[in-house]
Amino acid sequence: MRPLFNPDFTQHASQPITAKVPRLRENKKLHAGIHAGRARCPQRIGTGTCAEAFGAPVFSLLWHVGGYSWGVTVLEVIQKSTEFLGRKGVDSPRLQIELLLAHVLRMPRLKLYLSFDRELTEAELETLRELVRRRGNREPLQHLVGTVSFCGYEIAVNRDVFIPRPETELLAEQCWILLEQSGIESPTVVDVGTGSGCVAIALALRCPAAKITAVDISEAALVVARSNAARHRVEGRITFCCGDAFSPIAKGTRFDLIVSNPPYIPTDEISRLQPEVRDYDPRIALDGGADGLGFIRRLAVEAADYAAPMGRLMIELGDGQDEIARGIFGASGWNVEDVKVDDQGRPRILVARRC
Ligand SMILES: C[S@@+](CC[C@H](N)C(=O)[O-])C[C@H]1O[C@@H](n2cnc3c(N)ncnc32)[C@H](O)[C@@H]1O
Repeated sequence: MRPLFNPDFTQHASQPITAKVPRLRENKKLHAGIHAGRARCPQRIGTGTCAEAFGAPVFSLLWHVGGYSWGVTVLEVIQKSTEFLGRKGVDSPRLQIELLLAHVLRMPRLKLYLSFDRELTEAELETLRELVRRRGNREPLQHLVGTVSFCGYEIAVNRDVFIPRPETELLAEQCWILLEQSGIESPTVVDVGTGSGCVAIALALRCPAAKITAVDISEAALVVARSNAARHRVEGRITFCCGDAFSPIAKGTRFDLIVSNPPYIPTDEISRLQPEVRDYDPRIALDGGADGLGFIRRLAVEAADYAAPMGRLMIELGDGQDEIARGIFGASGWNVEDVKVDDQGRPRILVARRC
């Protein structure tokens, strides 16, 4: 007979993570909180302690009585950890624990629903306990599992890179549609501020004839980007350069497409972002200067010297930046052709053509 679940039983210390299952598919839902955080700057929420995490009933774990043990089931872990993460202010806590549990148990998330009565082993519980504790401290789920799905491609992430967001999938998609429709046999593309390399890699995979250059000011980010390119076997088709905006690119080079997801958060708003964003995305990936448009202004001016005649530029914008960005690009000799809206109906991708 299984004993009753005792919500106050708290023992077993934390152990290092051992499981590694870098597979994640629920990208859009997963990103919901982070996306909102970047756009809307929600309330600050403090970080938790180990003791608080272990105080959660999920960590009642195994009962050992007279040589027999009874394990905690998948359903109990989900219920109790949902409660714990909810108390910590984590968005979509049930989804978060399901994804962590699926990661630890190396099974698709939906299969958990067929395994509610499965008891976790002690090793699984130890691994999970540490991950839940870290998630309760608002470490992004993507850092805990190590990867994110971007346009269906697995991209590794760590603290050196900005975690790719779903709205940027729209940017990548619009770029490959444009390249496919351009009729240019071997189009040249530059991705300014490549971060994890997600956009450049998606374009290399979708447009095999494209010649791609990817720039970032962070050498640490480029290490991750190069490794992601190798993971997808496109490292030979992307030239990675470290430097400030267009500075590492030879003068006179012209691109058919200039793409960028620039830093665009106003400096003062960064301290009010969700902890997952504020404390874990690189600051240089977020900070767009006093009004958030500093890098966008630079792009409008500097990209003009690197655009092929009739070349296009596509950049991602923050909430409410579309009107002013139209003005900035118009004043710098670009013909703003469109501002595409994202899934939420917000103007998100500015498309301009060199006049
Ligand atoms: C918002 S992140 C975008 C990363 C990636 N393209 C994506 O969409 O996930 C902005 C990137 O721009 C880079 N960056 C910031 N300032 C830069 C500069 N002056 N020159 C080149 N890259 C810069 C940051 O290091 C960061 O990787």
